[in-house]
Amino acid sequence: MLEQITGISRIEGVIRPPGDKSISHRAVILNSIAQGTANVENFSPGADCTSTIECLQSLGVQIQRDATNFGSLMIQGANFDLKEPNTILDAGNSGTTMRLLSGILAGQPFLSILNGDQSLRNRPMGRIVEPLNLMGARIRGRNDDTLAPLVFKGGQLKGIKYTLPVASAQLKSCLLLAGLSATGPTELIEPDQSRDHTERMLASMGASLAINGNVLTLTGGSLNARDVRIPADISSAAFWIVAGVAHPNSRLRIESVGVNPTRTGILETLSMMGGNITLENHRSEGGEQVADILVESSRLHSTTIEGSIIPRLIDEIPVLAVAACFAKGTTIIRDAQELRVKESDRIQSIVDELNRMGGHLEATPDGLIIQGPVSLTGQACHSYGDHRIAMAIAIAGLIAKGETTIDQSECASISYPGFWKELAELDNNGGTTDGT
Ligand code: S3P
Repeated sequence: MLEQITGISRIEGVIRPPGDKSISHRAVILNSIAQGTANVENFSPGADCTSTIECLQSLGVQIQRDATNFGSLMIQGANFDLKEPNTILDAGNSGTTMRLLSGILAGQPFLSILNGDQSLRNRPMGRIVEPLNLMGARIRGRNDDTLAPLVFKGGQLKGIKYTLPVASAQLKSCLLLAGLSATGPTELIEPDQSRDHTERMLASMGASLAINGNVLTLTGGSLNARDVRIPADISSAAFWIVAGVAHPNSRLRIESVGVNPTRTGILETLSMMGGNITLENHRSEGGEQVADILVESSRLHSTTIEGSIIPRLIDEIPVLAVAACFAKGTTIIRDAQELRVKESDRIQSIVDELNRMGGHLEATPDGLIIQGPVSLTGQACHSYGDHRIAMAIAIAGLIAKGETTIDQSECASISYPGFWKELAELDNNGGTTDGT
């Protein structure tokens, strides 16, 4: 589908983004292998999380999704007693589905095959296959066991001590899940702190997990099912946060957003750039922090984003690049080479599309250099089938002069099926402008 965006003169409204994608995956995966029954509320409506549900159902887990309230799930925990699937498990576009489920399948006593779409089949899986095989798994994949489809022959795992080569929450979570069914402790050393939703949920379900700085030690054992209410996704909120600070005439309230400190790099960075961002109604819900976020038009200036903050805002870098186009000075992003192996090569995708609109961006091997401020002009843009690129370009289009079109715009439904509707509603509130 081709989506058309025109600049609007005012951005105003209240937005409640969908349930957090990362927490949703974990809520359904961990409850599926736990003992007991759990209800999950505000589960992500995105296609990625539906892929996870369908894989778990193929493994024999009873999961009911409420037909009238799509965010409501009931999960009958299988207590690790999964069944051999009679079909190839399809993770779709979802790296989280493939990497987290691999940690479970590695220790199951049956054969299973995990596949994904063309984008996922090109993403690095050697980072999970190698340590899982060290734990005693028998996993094979294409390209010398580094690419999906992945074949799991199953077997008994043993705990290992392992230093993660990348600060990846998907890799960390994969190995923690494998550690649950391993004999002996699994000790993981993280180079930098990545999102910690798995650790929080494991602890709340009774796992034996010790966290000492950047060292995690898990001893296997069973989990107790636990009800979860999922906060709105800060990675989805990020599009509106940037729209709010970068548009010259805006005021937005984004409600009930998860503000776990391992995810708030976007708020810290935009505040450092001069963004008018206020958190209100700060509260804790089921082990995760939640707040309402107020954003207003701001005079942005450039910054440097590098080092340990990168894993805390990795998914928000495409839309941060949009903000940097409207910020005075040179914004430099380093240490973000992981962006090259996401749903698309996000460094190249965002540089090419924002430059097409009149931006001054340069791709580097591990990041971007962005000169601002510029005035962007709507163009025919590509999403590369990557949800976060499509939505980042849409925000640029909202502030640009003229009309922007975005191809394969349906990809937004990977994480945010309601995105285009919300955008159209903002337009109804604000009215069209020529962007000047
Ligand atoms: C995720 C972790 C991140 C992130 C992805 C979701 C997760 O990937 O980019 O969208 O839910 O664990 P990495 O951990 O591989 O960086």
